[in-house]
Amino acid sequence: MAFYFNFSNVTDEQYEDKDNNCEETCDTLEHFTVPCEYILWNDIDLEAASASDVNLKQIQFKDFKIKYITQDTIANKIENLDLFSERETDLIPGKYEGGLKVWECSIDLAKFLSENSCIHSGDVVLELGCGIGLPGLLAYLYGGLVTFQDYNSEVIKYVTAPNVWLNTCVERQNSISEKCKFLCGDWQNIQEKYFSNGKDAKLYDVILTSETIYNRSNQKKLLNLMKEALKPGGVIYLASKVHYFGVGGGIADYEKLLKEDNTFDFCTVFKVTEGVERRILKLQHKKN
Ligand SMILES: C[S@@+](CC[C@H](N)C(=O)[O-])C[C@H]1O[C@@H](n2cnc3c(N)ncnc32)[C@H](O)[C@@H]1O
Repeated sequence: MAFYFNFSNVTDEQYEDKDNNCEETCDTLEHFTVPCEYILWNDIDLEAASASDVNLKQIQFKDFKIKYITQDTIANKIENLDLFSERETDLIPGKYEGGLKVWECSIDLAKFLSENSCIHSGDVVLELGCGIGLPGLLAYLYGGLVTFQDYNSEVIKYVTAPNVWLNTCVERQNSISEKCKFLCGDWQNIQEKYFSNGKDAKLYDVILTSETIYNRSNQKKLLNLMKEALKPGGVIYLASKVHYFGVGGGIADYEKLLKEDNTFDFCTVFKVTEGVERRILKLQHKKN
């Protein structure tokens, strides 16, 4: 039995029900680990992105049009296909965390960044849980030095990094690795391996993240990593649905965590109140 859900279509009650019935998959997940490492440019697979018949999507933002490939383009390329074989599935917790499609808050966030001049040339930027990476791609196009992080290495290799390549002019494609880094793995492992007193501690001027607080049990990991990664004086933009039906997390839980933790001041800088309610929060270190 596969343990999966599409969290746009499932109620909290149905989610609880699936949770109670997941013995077989929980067994499987116990033995499932994702790598935690920087991915070198040589390991990026550009075959799908460079095919002459590639099916590109595009979105126009204020200053840039972003081209990107998604799940449909690379589905039959991914070696470990069982990760993604449930085509109606948004994610499989702990195994595949949803990075192969564009989630709507990432469009909100990218639009917000472009309309409010949030990124400046030379800013060191981290996009956490990037998936397709629209906000990070915009930061890159505005001259940022961007680290893209996703849970799954396959997402980085087949989609995120090829999307950077697709949005880089031919003359600069050979020097992408001077401007971008790619990191995969679980937030807690990343924090322990690279950030806690490590070389990447307090490196980032700006942290971006979209649709990453849906699972309450991962929210603390995300916050701990943000605390270790952000420079004093840096800023975090977090885009999210107000509530994730079928999963349970959302803005209220994260704001509660932020208040308890007391490291960051935060405010809402963008809201959608009709249809699926969404927010963008801006976080900065508390001024002492
Ligand atoms: C729903 S997807 C959102 C993707 C993208 N930000 C967007 O909005 O289109 C959630 C993302 O969070 C990341 N994620 C979730 N749980 C994670 C964890 N425990 N450690 C690292 N990354 C995680 C995954 O990389 C995944 O791509």
